[in-house]
Amino acid sequence: MSLVYAGALSHAPGITGRAHLCENTARRDEFLAALDRQRQDIEDSGAEALIVVAAEHFANFFMNNMPAYCIGIGDTYEGPIEDPEWLRIERTKIPGAPDLATRLTREIMQTVDVAYAEEWKFDHGIMVPLNFLTPKYDLPIIPVNINCQGPPLTPLHRAWVFGEALRRACDSVPEKLALVATGGVSHWPATPDSGKINETWDRQFLGQLTRLEKDKLLSYSDEETYAQAGQGGFEIRTYIAAAVAAGGQGHLQFYTAELPIFAVGVTVMKFDIDTAA
Ligand SMILES: [Fe+2]
Repeated sequence: MSLVYAGALSHAPGITGRAHLCENTARRDEFLAALDRQRQDIEDSGAEALIVVAAEHFANFFMNNMPAYCIGIGDTYEGPIEDPEWLRIERTKIPGAPDLATRLTREIMQTVDVAYAEEWKFDHGIMVPLNFLTPKYDLPIIPVNINCQGPPLTPLHRAWVFGEALRRACDSVPEKLALVATGGVSHWPATPDSGKINETWDRQFLGQLTRLEKDKLLSYSDEETYAQAGQGGFEIRTYIAAAVAAGGQGHLQFYTAELPIFAVGVTVMKFDIDTAA
């Protein structure tokens, strides 16, 4: 068993950038405590590297050449690409795991035509999670991107297959690995609806995710997701891939729609790892 931890968390830039403006400090602090538990769980797992399945936002990949899936095989990365003062995260270097990431890529390629990149500037989609999960930036990171921004987007059943490929790849190496998905459920970033949250939709999706209900999870059309959960809802692909990679019961450790200043229903999840998978 080389996958020793799997989870998911939100990555909205307001989580760091606007935390000081949050009025509901009690709820915010509960969220921060859940993130710290997740950090501790990853630390306790003995993971030697952290795979971050993210959905980046036109920081590295553009419409001139958009990979559906990409894995980072670089020595080091830098982030955030955004203004550090706006995000309230200092720009820093983050260690990669080139040899390990290349071995994972070779295995994933057996079933998924994954792209790979030696250069990658981390945006808030990775930096906000790392700010809480590896605050000293001392754990090697393997970034993975699923295009959730520029349609046509990879179908959800392919995100499922990608999750299976990720798991097979993790099982093929001797290193202990942690994996987190970062994304959002319903949210409308950078639109007039920013701050809107569809809690009913979020809880329905997250419930199905905890139970890994394949038929239901794969039944969401992009049109329905856009109508109910905004363009930010397309990021459910990262959560699905992580849940499939883990293969076990999911646990919704924290969710609230009561922090609209973060512009997303903030979520912290852990997935049991099905060792029989
Ligand atoms: Fe995002």
